[in-house]
Amino acid sequence: MTSIDPLTFPPGFVWGAATASYQIEGAAQEDGRTPSIWDTFSHTPGKTLGGDTGDAACEHYHRYREDVGLMKDLGVNAYRFSVAWPRVQPGGSGPANAKGLDFYRRLVDELLANDITPWVTLYHWDLPQALEDAGGWPARDTAARFADYAMLVHGALGDRVRHWTTFNEPWCSAFLGYASGVHAPGRQHAPDALAAMHHLLLGHGQAIESMRAADPEAQLGITLNLYAISPADETKAGDLDAARRIDGLANRIFLDPVLLGSYPADVVADLQGVSDFGFVRDGDLKQIAQPLDLLGINYYSRHVVAGEDPDVPAEPYWRAPTSWPGSETVRFLKRPGVPVTDMGWEVDAPGLTETLTRVARDYPAIPLYITENGAAYVDTVGEDGSVEDAERVAYFDAHFRACHDAITAGAPLHGYFAWSLLDNFEWAWGYTKRFGMIRVDYDTQERTIKASGHRYREVIKHNGLGE
Ligand code: FCB
Repeated sequence: MTSIDPLTFPPGFVWGAATASYQIEGAAQEDGRTPSIWDTFSHTPGKTLGGDTGDAACEHYHRYREDVGLMKDLGVNAYRFSVAWPRVQPGGSGPANAKGLDFYRRLVDELLANDITPWVTLYHWDLPQALEDAGGWPARDTAARFADYAMLVHGALGDRVRHWTTFNEPWCSAFLGYASGVHAPGRQHAPDALAAMHHLLLGHGQAIESMRAADPEAQLGITLNLYAISPADETKAGDLDAARRIDGLANRIFLDPVLLGSYPADVVADLQGVSDFGFVRDGDLKQIAQPLDLLGINYYSRHVVAGEDPDVPAEPYWRAPTSWPGSETVRFLKRPGVPVTDMGWEVDAPGLTETLTRVARDYPAIPLYITENGAAYVDTVGEDGSVEDAERVAYFDAHFRACHDAITAGAPLHGYFAWSLLDNFEWAWGYTKRFGMIRVDYDTQERTIKASGHRYREVIKHNGLGE
């Protein structure tokens, strides 16, 4: 047990905010940037709500100074952002685009000048379209392209950026991008989704190995989206098996190769009807399981699942069933009475404690960071222009406490990044879902710190929840 004041976090705890390139930058066609799969996807009719695209987004590309000023105002210690691959290496391979790299140099300099530590995510879903045209993540070569790109960015920013993560949520890239197709590139082929998963992980391993060799002191890791998983009824074998399968497909199929160097045998067996895993070559798993300095965890909610049972009323709830190859018989339940966010995701803060303590228990010791956690709500702007987002304040508060509980229980949690700094382009949901601690008026690009942002400032100042 770690002994700390009930409402105070350990000294040096990192309080950060997170964003992603395509969700905020805009300037989609400026300074040599080429289309990513998200440009193509969002410009394809019917793929995003209202046909929204990231063309302009929050215009952060031009307003980054103002946005760093807002971070400074909130008092965040660190800022997690992603680099747009098609901005810095437009062809997906070959020469760098100096103007694109310059943007990130300016951003990093601005952060450092304001005492905000930059945390770079190398890939938050915006694959250069040229690489998708060459086969995308189901093609093995994309992993090598990613490792080259990682070195290119590291070469430009490595003198000033010490914290690097390779991928954001490879589950989404692989399973939403190539199985259900609700994310770019919108393909629907489950065997390809599994090949994509493997090549994302391989790209991670290759990039880590190269960056480690070039920069042994850098802090290197990956961000996974993990879920608390529960069977609807612990006494039912079918529900327990559904929970095992979904835990396998959501959590263990990424955690195990990265941290243990193997795919979970039960999940591989479940998936035999989909893929024989023939894409795994000798040496791949060793390559994937590089020693890491940190694991980023994105946590939003819990999955409550049931097996086939005609007597159990079920409301299909989470993502499309096709996002879960090999688990078509699993039903995702929505628990009556449990509050949900504007995404329809159940608010389940204890699930965050559970997720952190579980990773600490089941995997080799590694420093943990929450790299995303937050909630979408329908915000209303008051007559005086203020945004009193009480539900988001409560969501954050409960999850801060959940982090504290996990630390008290011994989980090596060292930091927390709120999702998100700004309202932004929420992928297939376009601009309809607002996650920001700062409101963005998309007509005027005016930014307004919401009550949740003001509350976060207090939490950071006190390094905890004390008043
Ligand atoms: C995560 C993504 C992030 C954002 C949040 C709400 O899956 O990493 O970009 O969309 O969900």
